[in-house]
Amino acid sequence: MKNASKKNCYAVFGNPISHSKSPEIHNFFFKKYGFHENYVKICASKENFINEILSFFQKGGKGANITLPFKEKVFLLCNSITKRARIAGSINTIKKYDKNFLLGDNTDGVGFLSDLLFQNLIKKNFNVLILGAGGAARGILHPLLEFECNIYITNRTFSKAQYLSKKFKKFGNIFSIPINQLKKNNYHIVINATSTSVFNVCPLIPSNLISKEVIYYDMFYGKKDTFFMNFCKKNGAKKVFNGIGMLINQAAHSFFLWKKIFPNTKEVFNFLEK
Ligand code: ATR
Repeated sequence: MKNASKKNCYAVFGNPISHSKSPEIHNFFFKKYGFHENYVKICASKENFINEILSFFQKGGKGANITLPFKEKVFLLCNSITKRARIAGSINTIKKYDKNFLLGDNTDGVGFLSDLLFQNLIKKNFNVLILGAGGAARGILHPLLEFECNIYITNRTFSKAQYLSKKFKKFGNIFSIPINQLKKNNYHIVINATSTSVFNVCPLIPSNLISKEVIYYDMFYGKKDTFFMNFCKKNGAKKVFNGIGMLINQAAHSFFLWKKIFPNTKEVFNFLEK
């Protein structure tokens, strides 16, 4: 069946959105599991996005992904919110039930952890250094703490790292640490959760802390290696990863919420690589 004859029941809302790979991933899942539905990207207006999302659901939309800059702002339109979305402080997935009842969920954190597990990059009790204390960092704290990792969080604006470490202390071992107190080889994995890769600028970590034993993971992805990935490789890192696996896995968890099927992520990975 051609796309034109399928209903646009699912969409990702963001601004900008042209770069999004979510339609490719979800349409792959829909086709593979026999759903004659389509997933599109919608560039919502910054002033009127609530009405645009509501109108999508009123016209037959069944589910949506929400991306920047709306993730923190869609709480208002959901009738119910999952615990993980409340803890993350943002919603990336909405499911419509009967009578326009909208459930807001967040699959970023669980998708991130699924990818680390799938790629065998994480173990219980690992020391994890997180660079950044914005929305992306916040979204991965709870799954990592629940998995019993020790988290060290640093940020350009240190007060934000302190705020998050205080807020998430009840879930496990989390410490805020100023950039100038970071020590070489104290961490098993370093996560770039800053938006530096979006703007293609230098990340926080000093070059003399980069080590070939440590894993470096950029939550961002692009066609080419990000600034952070290049920086780590240039300074001797050997285990360097981007966020494409996280993107695929968060999509798989959204698909599961909508369709109650957990899709095969390896296949879509191969498909995107092609
Ligand atoms: P996101 O939702 O992508 O996490 P955000 O909430 O705006 O976006 O957070 C951006 C993060 O990237 C913050 O931790 C920010 O640091 P500040 O809190 O000091 O602003 C970090 N960041 C952005 N640009 C940066 C840069 N040039 N150098 C270091 N950190 C940067």
